[in-house]
Amino acid sequence: AELSDRLPIIWLHMAECTGCSESLLRTDAPTIDSLIFDYISLEYHETLMAAAGWQAEHNLESAIERYKGQYILMVEGGIPSGENSFYLTIGGHGKTGEQNAKEASEHAAAIFAIGTCSSFGGVQAAMPNPTGAVALSKVTNKTVINVPGCPPSEKNIVGTLLHFILYGTLPALDAYNRPKWAYGLRIHDLCERRGRFDAGEFVEEFGDEGAKKGYCLYKVGCKGPYTFNNCSKNKFNSHMSWPIQAGHGCIGCSEPDFWDTMGPFEEP
Ligand code: SF4
Ligand code: SF4
Ligand code: F3S
Repeated sequence: AELSDRLPIIWLHMAECTGCSESLLRTDAPTIDSLIFDYISLEYHETLMAAAGWQAEHNLESAIERYKGQYILMVEGGIPSGENSFYLTIGGHGKTGEQNAKEASEHAAAIFAIGTCSSFGGVQAAMPNPTGAVALSKVTNKTVINVPGCPPSEKNIVGTLLHFILYGTLPALDAYNRPKWAYGLRIHDLCERRGRFDAGEFVEEFGDEGAKKGYCLYKVGCKGPYTFNNCSKNKFNSHMSWPIQAGHGCIGCSEPDFWDTMGPFEEP
């Protein structure tokens, strides 16, 4: 496809671990190279672009200018804000992540918060939130589509993007602005161990006979009944596996404030 056919994307990193970018790189349908060469024009992404230093800053500014009102903004990471915004400065001129996120939001055609950090604050915002980290939706008045998960699966990231590319519209959203096609059902509704739950067959402690037989993980801390996501359907790493298949309960990673409200993640 011509460059002009491809949707310009600006991806910003805020306070985060880059796990969401790692997840994006695992996409297999389309593959990451097909995504970048056939569907999108990735104008700015600090861990994937070749540019560095002043050239990188220039790329960001000129992409915003050139594609005003046309580009998709994708943001990874919580955003230290207000009087704490100095905890994240980018580019060596004392410019804060908050300023970058605000400016890039202003001229975006659509805004996606990728991961629980940018959707809800995430681990950065866990009590006592020393850097004052907030969700992207707190620093812009524009609509933010949240694609949470720590990280979200590559399917949920790319699916949300492709939906916009194919239909030119935003997907139907739930009360937390998550796309319903991905976050409409509970982990517990779609879990391959649900039959075990219904039969009262539980792992009592990690490593026991029940664990070997694939029993339900509820008694060892699984938060699947309280978590909305499609992990069992789409899985991770090109459809390889997901937490419960690997033998650990869901820790509620796509829910707001899960670090503070879903623990302990393993019952003793
Ligand atoms: Fe990392 Fe999780 Fe935040 Fe993504 S949501 S940047 S994986 S901590
Ligand atoms: Fe529900 Fe978790 Fe048990 Fe699966 S492992 S059935 S999500 S409680
Ligand atoms: Fe997260 Fe639970 Fe899925 S911990 S990855 S929402 S199984």
